Amino acid sequence: MANQDTVERAKYEPLRERAEPVSEALETMPYGLYIIGSHNEADEVNAMMADWLMQVSFKPRLVACAFENDATTLKNIRATGVFSVNVIPDDRMQMVAAFAQPQDASKIKGRSEEASARVYDKLRDVPHSRGEQTGCPILDDALAWLECQAEQFFPAGDHTLVVARVLGGAVLREGEPLTQRALGWSYGG
Ligand SMILES: Cc1cc2nc3c(=O)[nH]c(=O)nc-3n(C[C@H](O)[C@H](O)[C@H](O)COP(=O)(O)O)c2cc1C
Repeated sequence: MANQDTVERAKYEPLRERAEPVSEALETMPYGLYIIGSHNEADEVNAMMADWLMQVSFKPRLVACAFENDATTLKNIRATGVFSVNVIPDDRMQMVAAFAQPQDASKIKGRSEEASARVYDKLRDVPHSRGEQTGCPILDDALAWLECQAEQFFPAGDHTLVVARVLGGAVLREGEPLTQRALGWSYGG
């Protein structure tokens, strides 16, 4: 028979679950995990973590990725029209964490003036080359990479959906790709 404790829990847990059911439902959706490389017009490189990326056409080969409106990466893509996609092997989980940090530290609200003024060179200690067609960073440790040319920009709330043509790509090694779920960080909800 249910004791008082169980009754109390039964009464309150559904309320707690209803607090953000849509967010919870969205968070169950699985995604890949990619490092998007870009550069600005001064040829300074940047890279960011993204999981809202997928292929959207065979002919031509198109991918789409949703970028936060204030991401430096989006600014770079608008300026140069190009980006790279790095698929990360699941044994390189440690190296990806730094790419969730914005290049422009002021993007994160509430930081001190000094902390906000920082500009992170996220690729400084990460071995990489530059894509032949786009000049965008290709990580030495990537499982596979793509070079992409942006074709369409769709405003999508607090993000911008960029549809891009795949110009080239290759698989660099055998292995399993890292996923957002395996990383254990949630972006969605
Ligand atoms: C697991 C995970 C997935 C993410 N996916 C995306 C994404 O798909 N699109 C996006 O704009 N930001 C995404 N982010 C946030 C960016 O990595 C973050 O805003 C980054 O600082 C942007 O870098 P930038 O301003 O140097 O371009 C994700 C973060 C995490 C932790």
